[in-house]
Amino acid sequence: MDLDAFNNLIINKCGLFFENERLLTLTEAINKRMLTINSQSSKDYLQILQSDSSEFNELINLLTVNETYFFRESQHLKILTDSIVPELLSKKPFIKIMSAGCSTGQEPYSIVISMYEKYGSGFKKFCSIIGADIDSSTLKKAKIGKYNRESFRNFDDDLKKKYFDETNDGCHQLKNSVIDAVDFHMLNLQSPVYPDNLKDIDVIFYRNVSIYFQSDTKKEIFKKLSQILNNEGFLILSSTETFFHNIGILSLKEINGLFIYHKNTDIVTDTSPCTNPIEIVDRRKHNRKSLPVQTKEIAPRLPKTQRIERRTITPNLFEEALALGMDKKYDQALSAIDTLINSNKTFYKAYTLKTSILINLNCLKEAKDTALFIVKNDPLNIEAYILLGLIARIEQDDLSIIKRMKEALYLKPNNWLAHFYLAEAHLNSGEKIEAYKEYKIVLKLLETGSIIDHGLTMFPMSGSIEQLQHLCRNNLSRLEKIV
Ligand SMILES: C[S@@+](CC[C@H](N)C(=O)[O-])C[C@H]1O[C@@H](n2cnc3c(N)ncnc32)[C@H](O)[C@@H]1O
Repeated sequence: MDLDAFNNLIINKCGLFFENERLLTLTEAINKRMLTINSQSSKDYLQILQSDSSEFNELINLLTVNETYFFRESQHLKILTDSIVPELLSKKPFIKIMSAGCSTGQEPYSIVISMYEKYGSGFKKFCSIIGADIDSSTLKKAKIGKYNRESFRNFDDDLKKKYFDETNDGCHQLKNSVIDAVDFHMLNLQSPVYPDNLKDIDVIFYRNVSIYFQSDTKKEIFKKLSQILNNEGFLILSSTETFFHNIGILSLKEINGLFIYHKNTDIVTDTSPCTNPIEIVDRRKHNRKSLPVQTKEIAPRLPKTQRIERRTITPNLFEEALALGMDKKYDQALSAIDTLINSNKTFYKAYTLKTSILINLNCLKEAKDTALFIVKNDPLNIEAYILLGLIARIEQDDLSIIKRMKEALYLKPNNWLAHFYLAEAHLNSGEKIEAYKEYKIVLKLLETGSIIDHGLTMFPMSGSIEQLQHLCRNNLSRLEKIV
């Protein structure tokens, strides 16, 4: 089966892309649909997909993961009702809220319930709520409003009693007063034009959707969403996605320790959240000054002759490759690195730089292979462990992040960057006490002024040290209420 051809078609039509282990999901979905419609070969099926949009939608329905639940990241709902809605209503009489990528409805219905709780049923006079998704089968379920216990991971029992009726099969049926408050629409966020009724929105929840998209598509959809956003409007992503979209299209506004995108250049204080302190794929700004070039030699096991040869051959070329990488001239940087590696197969600093560049190119498999090669041949190379953790972070694999950062810290216990990534991964995994401890350590290490001691060769800072400290303090104060 020519998976590339399927992948390309799907990327072009709706921006979803499949690689690594997700290729298996793609293969299974294609096989399943071919069986259902009795298509004889994958070539035939590809042709059907090209011309038959309803079959294309059927395949997409199988491919989109619709994982969601009520009151997910509930702090966003509190900010909505307590800060955003009053601010918007002070400027206009009616507001439109949209859940983009609403899946089976738990997100827009959580918005409705929050509005009921704060404003009573009168909220419908000043606010409408829309749910939009590409997947027709999830929209169908959303409109029915019947949910099993999986949807109530983070839900207050009293609210459950108030807004749901228990059904005979142990599920919960949402009351009509909530269902009727949401207008559901099928929408491919990648469409060149959105229908008129899905424009002029004041608040967009776009959470846990962009994970499916390649970086260009992410940027494109973010741009489209910011276009349908009214001036003064807000765009909310999940905390783990926010950093990846700070690409200069919308400003960031901090509300109660959380960072939300805002379409207003006048009144916003720019407080980039720095949820990842280093700048990788999708970032626009460079800060060459913040680049600490690591000059200390590694690979001491080399014979003397080679060491001398490397000193004469590599230093300038390495600096050049590093500068090219920082300038995002990745092809040229990679070619310089290959020359370096060819002249000295054990010059591991060149391999770590190559890994960083491959990460920036989003070639995660190659990046991982290169980093694993370093670990195998130079097991005390702390940078390789951090880079593997960084790749795991992009793949949203918290367990691997924790493993890799702990390995890095075993080699160098005072590396603040590894502590920071560890804190974030613990927080994501709900391990609040561990997260708390790690944020504390990061702050302590940063206070002693050792920011350049981060362990990475290519380290373009995505924010200032103050922003990083601010983020840690915010998370600590949120965690203090819990731990
Ligand atoms: C993980 S769910 C997120 C649900 C909800 N926003 C939340 O945070 O709980 C992702 C949803 O995005 C939808 N989606 C994926 N690609 C899309 C596209 N191109 N246009 C619209 N929706 C899309 C999927 O169908 C899925 O229902």
